[in-house]
Amino acid sequence: MKMIAAQLIALALSGIAVASPAVPPQPKAKNPQCNFWANVRDRFINEIFLGVCAQDVHSMVRISFHDAIGFSLHSEKGGGADGSMIKFQDVELKFPANEGVDFIVSFLQPFADDVGISYGDAIMFGTAVGLSLCPGAPRLAAFVGRPDATRAAPDKTVPEPQDSITSILARMADAGFSPEELIHLLASHSMASQAGVDPSPALLGAPFDSTPFDFDSQVFLEVMLRATSFPAGGSGPNIGEDMSPLPGEFRLLSDRLFARDNRTACAWQASALSQSTMATNFATTFKKLSLLGQTQSKLLDCSEVIGTPPPAKNKQAFFPAGTNHDMIEQGCATQAFPTTLSTVAGRATPIPVVQLQDCPTCPTFKRRA
Ligand code: HEM
Repeated sequence: MKMIAAQLIALALSGIAVASPAVPPQPKAKNPQCNFWANVRDRFINEIFLGVCAQDVHSMVRISFHDAIGFSLHSEKGGGADGSMIKFQDVELKFPANEGVDFIVSFLQPFADDVGISYGDAIMFGTAVGLSLCPGAPRLAAFVGRPDATRAAPDKTVPEPQDSITSILARMADAGFSPEELIHLLASHSMASQAGVDPSPALLGAPFDSTPFDFDSQVFLEVMLRATSFPAGGSGPNIGEDMSPLPGEFRLLSDRLFARDNRTACAWQASALSQSTMATNFATTFKKLSLLGQTQSKLLDCSEVIGTPPPAKNKQAFFPAGTNHDMIEQGCATQAFPTTLSTVAGRATPIPVVQLQDCPTCPTFKRRA
């Protein structure tokens, strides 16, 4: 054993690259109460995410929004970030806006039961852990101790891509979010794909931008581009779908409108132009989302056990091959889109779909056809 360690050290010292482990070392808990959560974190990484930022992380970020936004400052619309999407899945998973969320619920429920944590914590703590594996993502706060949900959220709390911008902004305002904060949350669509808007088999996992495994500004830039066609192999136009500028890329109608509406276009463009600000804004607004319906002082802050995500691969958005600055459809009236971003030379190449992630260690894992 010592011999091998010595050889590895010698290799490292001699400057020869040693393969780095798939999962970076994770922080130890300083607060003894968070020791348990450091263990939950490791189980999430090994059993749900399989050490990578891929489909299961995307699904976690989506369920965290759909669960938490079941909340209103003004009327009864559910308990917010309380795990009701899992506890009352018989009700909530039937709502059209939650189509596809059943996939991650089928992993998460038995996992949470086995580990012994509430469904609200499983969703929000799990999302913080998942995002820590994604290049460019911010390190999210992780509060734990949410009690079990006591009621299901009603239908129509989750916006749909065919909804008008006015109605989406009204729904978000009802839950306490400004138009800018919604755009900040939509950085999540930088790591996203679809399966339900166009259910064609060829478009299962069709991504919203050209870099769906990175938490970067590409989605904001690419949604600003003039669109040319619906993705090949799909059945577009579908309800809630818009044409996209790149082969294989899928664009939501609501995203196109956010980028061009005078209530949201400047926040959208600002996110396209600064990856670091986009990430910081997401972390701030996501913390608010994760605490909807909860009292922060009653929760335990175990953010210290969340690992630091890998750095962004691209500090600045770029024009993918086949696109250029002339394709920008300027939405923000007060600031022109700069001409300084780089353009990748060559012809556009199709963007591959995001594959469903196998989870053979998940208790209810079923391989999809
Ligand atoms: C408010 C307007 C929003 C609308 C209309 C919207 C709509 C959608 C739709 C239609 C999909 C594709 C689902 C499918 O067909 O599988 C999607 C995916 C996704 N959304 Fe949103 N969304 C919104 C906001 C958000 C927010 C605020 C978050 C998170 C904070 C979020 C996170 C995601 C993620 C991560 C995915 C990808 C899921 C995956 O790849 O499996 N969305 N969204």
